[in-house]
Amino acid sequence: MRITIFGATGLLGKALMREWVQDPGDEVIGLCSKDADIRDASRVSEVVARTRPEWIVLSAAYTDVDGCETNPQLALDVNCHGAANIAQAAKQSGSRLLFVSTDYVFDGKKASPYETADPRAPRSAYGRSKAEAEIAVTQILPEACIARTSWLFGTGGSCFPETILKLAASRPTIDVVNDQRGAPTYAPDLAQAIKQLCHKNATGVVHVTNRGECTWFEFACEIVVRAGLPTVVRPTTSDKFVRPAERPQYSVLSLRSLEPYGITTPSWQNALGRYLDERQITNRTAEASK
Ligand SMILES: NC(=O)c1ccc[n+]([C@@H]2O[C@H](COP(=O)([O-])OP(=O)(O)OC[C@H]3O[C@@H](n4cnc5c(N)ncnc54)[C@H](OP(=O)(O)O)[C@@H]3O)[C@@H](O)[C@H]2O)c1
Repeated sequence: MRITIFGATGLLGKALMREWVQDPGDEVIGLCSKDADIRDASRVSEVVARTRPEWIVLSAAYTDVDGCETNPQLALDVNCHGAANIAQAAKQSGSRLLFVSTDYVFDGKKASPYETADPRAPRSAYGRSKAEAEIAVTQILPEACIARTSWLFGTGGSCFPETILKLAASRPTIDVVNDQRGAPTYAPDLAQAIKQLCHKNATGVVHVTNRGECTWFEFACEIVVRAGLPTVVRPTTSDKFVRPAERPQYSVLSLRSLEPYGITTPSWQNALGRYLDERQITNRTAEASK
């Protein structure tokens, strides 16, 4: 199978590349914004026509949630119009498309996991741009697969565990919000599930996260304990950390949509353990090559 990944230099994109290059049966091409800015429809269709993928994985996005709030036009241009350009190119070339979306398409007001059919009600510019992208992609390519995920972490970029570990290395206490609940997702686990979804010809909306749920405070406690650090993590509330974009209070995604594909994901605690091991190896390798 031939796969073209847009956003291959991002946190998820790097994990997707690592996942796919291990598979001798598949041929993968990874692209970043310099190779093809997804806002440029003719460049996108040229690249897709040249790489002739069976599957396109669209991981590229403008992911700075607060940046999207202050520049909503850029959010729409990249996240929505860019996704529509990719869907058009996929349609022209007969490629399948898997579009990576987000828990931010929901309002965060539920108290039980969001199902794929729950209504979209984004409360931030980032969430609106991704929700509109989902609609545009489905209109252009009804058989596209939309994989929503949440709270992504991994060694391929900045993420919550990395921030906590850096803070914990220099501070005796850290305050972390305890009133936002979600499901952490380890990029390699998501990448593996995405590869399986492509191999299984998935279509429609699916939710992919690690199993289980927690608040950011609970996540931070587990990170500090597992890393063996003496830092005290204290619970606080979102009103103490006012930011341009509103964060969903509750954004756990139901994993029922993965069942028909026979895909299961490990718990977030299990994933965190593997992340910490991988981070240690990455840091040691970086030290050794200095
Ligand atoms: N991070 C999370 O917590 C989270 C949660 C839920 C869903 N998601 C979704 O998961 C996907 C992957 O997120 P991520 O955290 O891996 O993203 P990321 O690390 O911010 O990487 C973004 C990627 O998009 C590319 N990109 C940005 N603007 C582009 C443009 N105009 N044209 C072409 N490529 C462009 C970047 O390429 P360059 O390196 O060339 O700039 C980079 O490869 C996104 O669709 C995001 O919406 C993320």
